[in-house]
Amino acid sequence: MKILAINGSPRGESSNTQTMLKAFLKGAAAKGAETEIVLLSEKTIHPCKGCFACWVKTPGECIQKDDMKEVLKKLWDCDLVIFASPLYVDCVSAQLKTFMDRMLPGILPNFVKIDGVWRHPLRFETSPKVGVLCNSGFPQMEHFQVVHHLFERVVLNMHTEIVMEIYRPGGEILRAKNLLLKPLLLKYKKLLEKAGKEVVEKGRLSEKLQKQLEADIVPPDTYIKNANAYWDKQLAKLDKTK
Ligand SMILES: Cc1cc2nc3c(=O)[nH]c(=O)nc-3n(C[C@H](O)[C@H](O)[C@H](O)COP(=O)(O)O)c2cc1C
Repeated sequence: MKILAINGSPRGESSNTQTMLKAFLKGAAAKGAETEIVLLSEKTIHPCKGCFACWVKTPGECIQKDDMKEVLKKLWDCDLVIFASPLYVDCVSAQLKTFMDRMLPGILPNFVKIDGVWRHPLRFETSPKVGVLCNSGFPQMEHFQVVHHLFERVVLNMHTEIVMEIYRPGGEILRAKNLLLKPLLLKYKKLLEKAGKEVVEKGRLSEKLQKQLEADIVPPDTYIKNANAYWDKQLAKLDKTK
C-alpha cells in the first residue's frame, strides 16, 4: 500500500500534525506500507486562479508552474492520501485548502448526476482512499464538526471514500515538555502506530480505535488550566519589556 500524507501545518517539521503523522506512518511502514509525507510549508503552491485552463486549454494540467504538479502525480498514484492539518478557524489550514483547490485538474468539466447529486467525473480511472488527521487547540471533539463534514463532501468530489478519521482535541499537549506527561504522550503515540498498522492490514480504522484516539490525554480542565498559565506567562514577559 502506498500512503501519501499531505501536512498542511505552517509549522512543518515541528508541527503537532507531523508528530501524529510520523507515529501513524511508523505503524503503517511496519506492516509494509510505502509512506511519504509532503510538508506544504516547504512547497510553493499558488492559489487556484479559477481560469479552468486545466479543463479546456491544458487538460489535466494547471498552467501555473510550481510544486503542485509533482505532488499531484504522487497523489493520483497512491492508494491512500491522508489530508493532515491543524484546525484553523474551525476548518483546515489555508495551505491545505489551497492544495485541495489545486486538485481541480483531476476532474472533468462535464456535469453528471451520481446518486441524485450533480458532480464532475474523475479524469482518472481510480482515486485514492482518503484519511483525515487533524489536531486542535481547544480540547473538545465538537470543534472538528466542520472538518468532518468538509471531507464527507471532498470524497464525493474525488469519487472515493474516507477510511480513517483521526482527530486530536487539545493537540498542543503533544509538544509539552512536562516529564509527568511523557508516559501519557508515549501511550498516545503507540495508539497512533497501532492505527497505522490497522489501516494497512484491514484497509480502514476501526471505530473502537478511533474512539480511543479521541479520548482525553489529560482531563480538559487540566489542559485549559495549563494553557491559560502558559499564555499568562507569555503576556507577563511582554509587560516586563514595556
Ligand atoms: C490562525 C489560527 C487559527 C486557529 N483556529 C483554531 C480553531 O478554530 N479551533 C481550535 O481549536 N484551535 C485553533 N487554532 C489552534 C491550532 O489548531 C493548534 O495550535 C494546533 O495544535 C496547531 O497544530 P500544528 O502544530 O500541527 O500546526 C488556531 C491556530 C491558529 C494559528
